[in-house]
Amino acid sequence: MGLCCSQCQGIEMEFNRKTAASQLRRYRKRGAGGTTRVLIDALEAMGVDGLTLLDIGGGIGIIQHELLMVGVMRATGVDASTAYLEAAREEAARQGHGDRVAFHHGDFAALAAQIAPADVVTLDRVICCYHDMGALVGLSAARARKLYGVVYPRDTWWNRMGIALVNFIMRVRRRPFRTFVYPTDAVEAVIVRNGLARQFHRQTLVWQVVVYGRSPAAQAP
Ligand SMILES: C[S@@+](CC[C@H](N)C(=O)[O-])C[C@H]1O[C@@H](n2cnc3c(N)ncnc32)[C@H](O)[C@@H]1O
Repeated sequence: MGLCCSQCQGIEMEFNRKTAASQLRRYRKRGAGGTTRVLIDALEAMGVDGLTLLDIGGGIGIIQHELLMVGVMRATGVDASTAYLEAAREEAARQGHGDRVAFHHGDFAALAAQIAPADVVTLDRVICCYHDMGALVGLSAARARKLYGVVYPRDTWWNRMGIALVNFIMRVRRRPFRTFVYPTDAVEAVIVRNGLARQFHRQTLVWQVVVYGRSPAAQAP
């Protein structure tokens, strides 16, 4: 079995109905938190009124729900987990904006050709779940007309050690899911090659939140 196939199988196993239900409960009780909140606030401050959103690996759809509430016109959610996509759909309907979100199930790198570009593209804690950073980041950055927001692990020794430990445990338990930490320079090089420049950066011990913008001259009408 190839890594892509086993990784997508691993995603379905790890991001399952039980974890989706628990995330949904937490979101309904406490709202968006941590670095997800930082990313949402940064995007809102840059202006999202009337824009379209493509949220890749959006899980239960927190970024979609929050940005639709503050001016985003339409959103598209793409997720490799059936359970998370269902939870996102249920929450969108509950919040009354189900008709403004389109959902696609599957691996974004495989589906990319069928997904239209959007003004704002987000990947919140998704790059670390995927084995082919170049494909995921390159294909998604190419679809961002104005803003590209990502949350992914800092390339530090403690993150590399933590991820090696998590992957070791996964291997021992014979679970196919793996996590990845990529060099910031390598991720950023792919993004910059796609015509985007860094506009916002914030980091915690583990994560970095970065928003890139496309120069107005390079934005499609
Ligand atoms: C750690 S969760 C993050 C969910 C959400 N963005 C958040 O921060 O709460 C990773 C999500 O990315 C999705 N995912 C990982 N790789 C993906 C890919 N190649 N295409 C689409 N979704 C993917 C998983 O199914 C999962 O929902």
